[in-house]
Amino acid sequence: MDYGREAAAYQAIPLRFQGDIVPRYFGSWTFSLQSGRGASARKRPVRMILLELIHGETILDKIARAMRSAKWPDSLDFSALPPEKERLEILGRAVEAELALSWYAGVVHNDFAPRNIMVARNADDRPRVVLIDFNLARVARYMNPARQPPGTRDPTALPISPIERHWPGYDFTSRCEFAGWIPMSWHDNNDVSNARALEWLVARWKGSPKYQPLSDEFFEDETNEVLGENVQRYVALLKAEQAQYHKK
Ligand SMILES: Nc1ncnc2c1ncn2[C@@H]1O[C@H](COP(=O)(O)OP(=O)(O)O)[C@@H](O)[C@H]1O
Ligand SMILES: [Mg+2]
Repeated sequence: MDYGREAAAYQAIPLRFQGDIVPRYFGSWTFSLQSGRGASARKRPVRMILLELIHGETILDKIARAMRSAKWPDSLDFSALPPEKERLEILGRAVEAELALSWYAGVVHNDFAPRNIMVARNADDRPRVVLIDFNLARVARYMNPARQPPGTRDPTALPISPIERHWPGYDFTSRCEFAGWIPMSWHDNNDVSNARALEWLVARWKGSPKYQPLSDEFFEDETNEVLGENVQRYVALLKAEQAQYHKK
């Protein structure tokens, strides 16, 4: 199952994303491997997916190197990580990559976590963010066509905004998988409304022409009411500003 899903995912990912936000994909095979000799000789099927080797490491590898001991989170040495600005840039690009694959390729990764995001360097020394590990991915083209992501039906349609996708920021708050990557200042047990993560989502993507405007459902979602003052404040701010960007 892992093999089938991962191979299907890579086959569905267009070349423009390969070698960029995912490794280049060179094919997949099942071959028969002989083992043992004489009476104990056996053949077994071996699955192989041939991918570009990414010269880099995962976000989790980077976090692991900054851990002074296994005791989390007090033992994390934030100064041993890349600078905060770079970490957020990498996280932002990973978010955009995951969204692009789901929208334009119909491939929903389903395991978006530090262990599956690699960071390499481009020729110009800027970080290249690469998603790996598609064994849990869902590939829309094999599902009910009615449920296919719009971006695969209409290539001109814009993806939903990362703000909407990750609202209200729980993916990037204290006890999330990215806890060792988000800024130290975001760690606050009382931060129930994820003020910092919300602030980041809004600052990075509000009004971005690469994404759809925030939907009516987003603004009318009643759960915003119970998520605290910060959520309500940012929803109000986004609502007031939305009209502005889409006039331009
Ligand atoms: N294309 C690649 N280039 C370099 N390293 C890779 C590549 N793909 C995977 N890895 C390394 O192997 C590890 C396991 O791969 P992954 O696809 O995440 O498998 P698993 O399903 O076992 O988590 C990754 O964390 C990463 O360190
Ligand atoms: Mg993995």
